[in-house]
Amino acid sequence: MVVPYKSEPLTDFSIEENRQAYLNALKKVESELGGEYPLIIGGERITTEQKITSYNPSNKTQVVGNVSKATQELAEKAMQIADSTFNTWKKVDPIMRAEVLFKAAAITRRRKFELCAWLTKEAGKPWSQADGDIAEGIDFLEYYGRQMLELAKGKPLAENPGQINKYTYIPLGVGVVISPWNFPFAIMLGTTVAAVVTGNTVLLKPASTTPVIAYKFMEIMEEAGLPPGVINYVPGSGAEVGDYLVDHPRTRFISFTGSRDVGLRINQRASVLNEGQIWIKRVIAEMGGKDTIVVDDAQTADLELAAQSIVSSAFGFSGQKCSACSRAVIVGDEAYNKVVERVVELTNELVVGDPTNEETYMGPVNDAGAFEKITNYIEIGKSEGRLVAGGTADDSTGYFINPTVFADVDPMARIMQEEIFGPVLGLTKAKDFNEAIEIANNTVYGLTGAVISNKREHLEFARQEFHVGNLYFNRGCTAATVGYQPFGGFNMSGTDSKAGGPDYLTLHMQAKSVSETL
Ligand code: NAD
Ligand code: ALA
Repeated sequence: MVVPYKSEPLTDFSIEENRQAYLNALKKVESELGGEYPLIIGGERITTEQKITSYNPSNKTQVVGNVSKATQELAEKAMQIADSTFNTWKKVDPIMRAEVLFKAAAITRRRKFELCAWLTKEAGKPWSQADGDIAEGIDFLEYYGRQMLELAKGKPLAENPGQINKYTYIPLGVGVVISPWNFPFAIMLGTTVAAVVTGNTVLLKPASTTPVIAYKFMEIMEEAGLPPGVINYVPGSGAEVGDYLVDHPRTRFISFTGSRDVGLRINQRASVLNEGQIWIKRVIAEMGGKDTIVVDDAQTADLELAAQSIVSSAFGFSGQKCSACSRAVIVGDEAYNKVVERVVELTNELVVGDPTNEETYMGPVNDAGAFEKITNYIEIGKSEGRLVAGGTADDSTGYFINPTVFADVDPMARIMQEEIFGPVLGLTKAKDFNEAIEIANNTVYGLTGAVISNKREHLEFARQEFHVGNLYFNRGCTAATVGYQPFGGFNMSGTDSKAGGPDYLTLHMQAKSVSETL
């Protein structure tokens, strides 16, 4: 008997024991920096000459780990192993597959602080953000395990005398999982274990800036009893190994999370029939966002809640979340002026620096490429709006960018339309609530959004008209919880596959209908 799903509680760092545990974990991880990590194909460790070097974004010359880099030949080997392992893994009792996930959740829970410390070093995540990422990983394991137990029962059909009709879900085959660096544990893990618990085998290509934490996940799955060859760890170049695997005729599905451009490219390539291919590849693609918080007028909205929600959603993990608030639309002069003032005050209080320090709110951005892209957008913003906070950056030791706010920005300006994926926020004014929702909907994306209002009519209007996959009322627009707020977006934000939701696992399966005449 499995207890009902409940999300993993976040760690309370005001408890001294937890603080000490984090500090000890940081010391342990520091002593292990610079290690070598092989590929894992069919359980075999394979070391290659060419490496992906993972650096600490807070201290850009510090090597977190050197990871072997898959070539196309090794990707082919991994594909063959995943393909043959599928023949046995698909027949394993779904209960046993779910139990592997439950065991992995227990191991992850035991190793929580150490895994958090790896995220602090490899992804630049401050303590609470790292803790949230690992907790979400545990949630995916616990939630998808339980979802599989339900799915294994099949679905009831209408009764027809003289027949026995059964409807069951069977797995698809080999899946290629391509994951991003911004939730390098939770998303990498969630997309992989959803495929595995449903009976598929996987080629896992983690993001190139965060391959070490993905290796730690492989260790956990092995310890949890996952047979060799079910997940094959093949870090490599997106263009070389990514394209090769996406094009491969034995690839049955691709589960991608990342940017819009790469997602569209994968979708297009996956639609091409390659020699020997006998199916239409399925693509699950979760992509970018340009997420808006709408604040109602001064008589209707709690403006302090609005400012707090905007700042935490814009600058948590340096704005590097697909769900991050990068635009806020505020109704009327009075609310606009008050919210701008308070957002600036709160932004100026944020502590930016080394995420190993407990008091740091915002660490670095991902790498040199992200630093350049975001600082370019800050320059663009200077000609598109009024700079009211931040605007400065320093990459002398790590990739640090101060939280930046532009006010009075035209809703069609570039910084209001393009995904910046960094700590840059644009503020604009609307004449009324309807116009605010129109502005909120005016991008090509449709991932998250929030409305701060105490007017029921306005909330109901937004429920119908605000076209995003995850809509929140009277809170920020980040931090969806597995099982409670299934996550995924509309339009150019992807296929709306709703990770952490009740329909997610079936995306990795096909339904079979068997009818016996008595
Ligand atoms: P990215 O698109 O640059 O990379 C994502 C993954 O794709 C990486 O593993 C990368 O190596 C791989 N890749 C790159 N080129 C490839 C190719 N040609 N073929 C196959 N794989 C290839 O994205 P990123 O910078 O890692 O992550 C940030 C982006 O992800 C943002 O746009 C963000 O909004 C999005 N994101 C979306 C969600 C969501 O659920 N909607 C969640 C997290 C991040
Ligand atoms: N699922 C993450 C969030 O909601 C991206 O913030």
